[in-house]
Amino acid sequence: MAQLHERLQAAMGSAFGGSYASSDPMLAVATKREFGDFQCNAALALAKPLGMKPRDAAAKLVEALEVSDLCEAPEVAGPGFLNLRLRNALLEQQLAVMAADASGRCAVPRAAEPLRTVVDYSSPNIAKEMHVGHLRSTIIGDTLARLLELRGHPVVRLNHVGDWGTQFGMLITHLRQTAPEVASGAAEAELSDLVAFYKAAKARFDAEEDFAAASRREVVALQSGDEASLAAWRSLCATSEAAFSKVYSALRVDERLVTRGESFYNPRLPSVLEDLEAGGLLQESDGARCVFLEGYTNRDGEPLPVIVQKSDGGFMYSTTDLAAIRQRVADEEARRVLYVTDAGQALHFQQVFEIARRAGFAPDSVSLEHVPFGLVQGEDGKKFKTRSGETVKLADLLDEALRRARADARLEAEGREEGEEFVARVAAAVGIGAVKYADLAMNRQSNYRFSFDKMLSLTGNTAPYMLYAYARVRGIQRRAAAAASLDAPAADSAAGFVLREPAEVNLARQLLRLGQVVSDVERDLLPSKLCEYIFELAGDFNRFYEAHLPSSPPAPALLRPLNAAPRRALLALCELTAAVLALNLRILGIEPLERI
Ligand code: ARG
Repeated sequence: MAQLHERLQAAMGSAFGGSYASSDPMLAVATKREFGDFQCNAALALAKPLGMKPRDAAAKLVEALEVSDLCEAPEVAGPGFLNLRLRNALLEQQLAVMAADASGRCAVPRAAEPLRTVVDYSSPNIAKEMHVGHLRSTIIGDTLARLLELRGHPVVRLNHVGDWGTQFGMLITHLRQTAPEVASGAAEAELSDLVAFYKAAKARFDAEEDFAAASRREVVALQSGDEASLAAWRSLCATSEAAFSKVYSALRVDERLVTRGESFYNPRLPSVLEDLEAGGLLQESDGARCVFLEGYTNRDGEPLPVIVQKSDGGFMYSTTDLAAIRQRVADEEARRVLYVTDAGQALHFQQVFEIARRAGFAPDSVSLEHVPFGLVQGEDGKKFKTRSGETVKLADLLDEALRRARADARLEAEGREEGEEFVARVAAAVGIGAVKYADLAMNRQSNYRFSFDKMLSLTGNTAPYMLYAYARVRGIQRRAAAAASLDAPAADSAAGFVLREPAEVNLARQLLRLGQVVSDVERDLLPSKLCEYIFELAGDFNRFYEAHLPSSPPAPALLRPLNAAPRRALLALCELTAAVLALNLRILGIEPLERI
């Protein structure tokens, strides 16, 4: 692309005069395959200043353009676009570069400037059930972290667990009264108990004056570091975290996800207030300390404050996030901070980011980005819940996915010889993979309807379809390898790419798009683009395969030893397709299977 850029500029200089040699050739990746690989829109832009018709300017540019070593003859299209199609020889060279990369990254280039990136994701709340929103955050966050690492960015994965706040006053008080042995840390509680427990504590808090008063005293004790209060708090956290861990291991969440809950920032909150005060950002309103930002008003048009300290001295969710930004920039030296949460928190992050900028917690060189996602809904488009109307527990949901994958993949059908270990592995890859893929394949901004039937379908853009596509390529390779061992060994066994048929060229072009797709996702953080990409790749592979498979073949031509050299070229395409599929599936957190 850089080369084409230079050549186009040189041509503009000689066609339209020296001053044009530095204008932008407006080179872009072609929007459609039929248009070739690249498109140059310079003629359209320059026609006016040149006083020429765009098509004439384009024709003149073509005349001056010297790219015959890189491209087929350039074509002028539409009102005056220039379509550029890379020569097969060039595609072959680039494929060879990808194939030669033994590191498994398929020659995806590393970012020129690695940015230390914090990805804040998952972040469930203590003593509450982890819900489908946290599932989305976990799956999307984990994928983005892997993708950024592939691009060479150092990534810090942070689980901003909700483990602090006034609700702990009532939880600890209730715990002390009903389960003193758990409160002292001598025994453990079950999470299912904890959720019921939260409800009970809340009910008492609302109804019993004495209990509410004791809870408020407990908050003060906890915040001042009282040892007995801390022991009870730790016990609640440990119980919840054990339950989160189960979900993480079922999902195979990256083990480097560090739990750094809200409590971590608690000692830093007073100094955040001091910094805001020093920056002249604080105002008092009804006894609370607030920041008023321009442009935020309530329904009546009155300025809407961001409260950072309530009148009773308690801090807010926003205050913690301000402390977190300051710490992530100053101590973690983050250059990019991503927050993967539901879209409902968009206003919160907008305000927090703005305050952080104004307070000097994050200079402009640090990018703060909310990565919002839509709601998970039931198949009926309504709130996602169980048949009896309760919130769905994630652990149950994942168990159900495994159970269905076992049944759907007909793994338990007769005639299968594989052992339990194989079956369990396939069921996990398909079942958990289906849940992940269904989530990732949707544009994350939209709401998505959770449907086991759809996500486990073998057709369409689903995990089972992709896993079968991958296993199929691997199967072809295995059969070809077996057939090849009957041939005389080839003199040169290098993976030479030779593109002949259109189906091969199309597959090659799709394989070569990998780097662009990865850098698009690095920028706009839309994992769905990876899913779209491999879905199209699988389609191109199928067409390629069919082109080499006569209608009722004794054996695919791929395997037929017509002539060892062309067969090797076809197999080289298979091999690279498998590598690119595997790389993408791994980024998506799905284990590619050699056979299903
Ligand atoms: N615990 C929050 C929730 O369940 C998500 C926290 C997201 N991260 C953050 N730094 N605010 O909605």
